[in-house]
Amino acid sequence: MFEQFHLPGILAVKRFTASLTLLLLVSVLALSSGCKDSTSNTSASGGKAAGQARQYVIGMSQCNLGEPWRVQMKADIEAAAAKHPEFKVIFKDAQNDTLKQRAQLEEFVGAKADLIIISPKEAQPLTEPVARAMDAGIPVIVLDRAVLGDKYTCFIGADNKKIGRAAGQWTVKRLGGKGKVIELMGLMTSIPGQDRHSGFRDAIAGSNIEVIFEADMKWLEPNSRSEMESALSRFNKIDLVYAHNDPGAHGAYLAAKAVGREHEMAFVGIDALPQEGVAYVKQGILDATFQYPTGGAEAIEMALKIFKGQSVPKKITLGSRVFDKSNVDRGGEELQ
Ligand code: FRU
Repeated sequence: MFEQFHLPGILAVKRFTASLTLLLLVSVLALSSGCKDSTSNTSASGGKAAGQARQYVIGMSQCNLGEPWRVQMKADIEAAAAKHPEFKVIFKDAQNDTLKQRAQLEEFVGAKADLIIISPKEAQPLTEPVARAMDAGIPVIVLDRAVLGDKYTCFIGADNKKIGRAAGQWTVKRLGGKGKVIELMGLMTSIPGQDRHSGFRDAIAGSNIEVIFEADMKWLEPNSRSEMESALSRFNKIDLVYAHNDPGAHGAYLAAKAVGREHEMAFVGIDALPQEGVAYVKQGILDATFQYPTGGAEAIEMALKIFKGQSVPKKITLGSRVFDKSNVDRGGEELQ
């Protein structure tokens, strides 16, 4: 621009104005394209910038991450989602706190997630937040523990009543139709706890099996261990312990072992993770465990369908297997 001072006055002014206009135009263009980028990056629903694939944000609210089975569910979701780079899964751990889990759902709705996956702690208090997400137009996949009613997109879980019934039939067979049993129940405000209980009771009805002690250990191994300590101090003959999950069965085993009574009775659990329940059966700690698949991979499969606008079933029932000494080395046996 300094050269312009050597030009005749009017020409120099004109060239100066032209340069200024060009400079302004370039800055406006740069600014506006910058704005576009930042809008698409911050959009919760993963807005589509030119040439960029659409991103889908999935909010996953997990009732707790303190139990091996829940850690496995998270790993299954992560592994399935890793095959879809367009999915971004935001995991939240409610730490077994229903109020926290309700707040997590509200946060996902506020952030306009594209889809929510919830594995609820208990049925009743989480029914309404799920319904509210649906009202906001966000599809919700409910995993493992159900909510009440039918205001959700898809429920995925195994048949807990069937598993409870199979555990009852296994018990009747093992005890020859007669004996004294302890039942350590999962959280009774959750549907799996209720179904594993009623299925088991249906199957032992009419036999001479007597449940001499029952307690709600809320799915937790330390609770199960202390409930079992009370049972052991009250009863000098126990034939079998049925716990609604493997951590519960293991807690009961530890309590019996601590007083040298672990060989007096059989221990039956549910979950059958390879590194937990199945390993316990191989080690002779548990006598049987029933598989409870996490459904993590299926949840991502359904999310994909929903994003593609395809219809999904309202309910997906996962299968189960029984593992005991007779079949553990050949991978268990499918429940019929
Ligand atoms: C984990 C867990 C599992 C059980 C499932 C039932 O929180 O307790 O052990 O099978 O939840 O919902």
